[in-house]
Amino acid sequence: MSRKNIAAGNWKMNTTIEEGIDLAQLIAGAERSKEVITILGVPFTHIYPLQKKIKVSSKVLLAAQNCHHKTSGAYTGEISPTMLAAMKVPYVIIGHSERREYNHEDNALLAAKLRAALDAGLKVIFCCGEALDIRKAGSHVSHVKNQLVESLFQLDAKEMKNIVIAYEPIWAIGTGETASPAQAQEMHAAIRSMLQIKYGKRVAENTSILYGGSVKGNNAKELFSQPDVDGGLVGGASLNGAEFVQIINSF
Ligand code: 13P
Repeated sequence: MSRKNIAAGNWKMNTTIEEGIDLAQLIAGAERSKEVITILGVPFTHIYPLQKKIKVSSKVLLAAQNCHHKTSGAYTGEISPTMLAAMKVPYVIIGHSERREYNHEDNALLAAKLRAALDAGLKVIFCCGEALDIRKAGSHVSHVKNQLVESLFQLDAKEMKNIVIAYEPIWAIGTGETASPAQAQEMHAAIRSMLQIKYGKRVAENTSILYGGSVKGNNAKELFSQPDVDGGLVGGASLNGAEFVQIINSF
């Protein structure tokens, strides 16, 4: 996967199946001004109905929002990456800050999830990002570096073609407070330079890095115009079809 424009929605725990189908149909049917990979991160329950109802083509691809780190076993309520791959779900989101916080997912567990997802043949949207106190202390770059080193950087250079990175500062998620374009660019450039040091220029240049945290129809253009911002991972605004289409057309 080389560096592409990506607009990814993360529906989180929202929408009924019927609402999800309506939303996805609106997004799939919309005109696009440019070539943009559109990914919808939907609840597990929605994957099969959406595959049946919408044309899952290059126009709209699906992502699961999580997966387990084992292939199968006695893990009640969990979904394995093998199950997702068997359903031909191309992407899974791993490392979202909400799962880190509410489900106590640490860097070591996320490393295991990454391993399992790639072994199953999935592509991964890997999330990283700092909390407000870390940003205020000025250690946001080293915090994100640590998240990458302890999870993502176990992968080899070849595997990185199946990775999209999403930088999502926790203080900007669902708060209406977006990172400024300059703050996003600073972190994205830092992440790209970490990729270059670890994997070399080719991987650094070819890895898409998305920004997430209160991306809206009215701020996406400025964020996406930053040289190292390759798109967005969008929560709240991805639940509004017209606004998400506006975001898709912000490149
Ligand atoms: P919001 O766009 O609602 O801030 O959520 C961002 C996010 O968490 C996407 O994964």
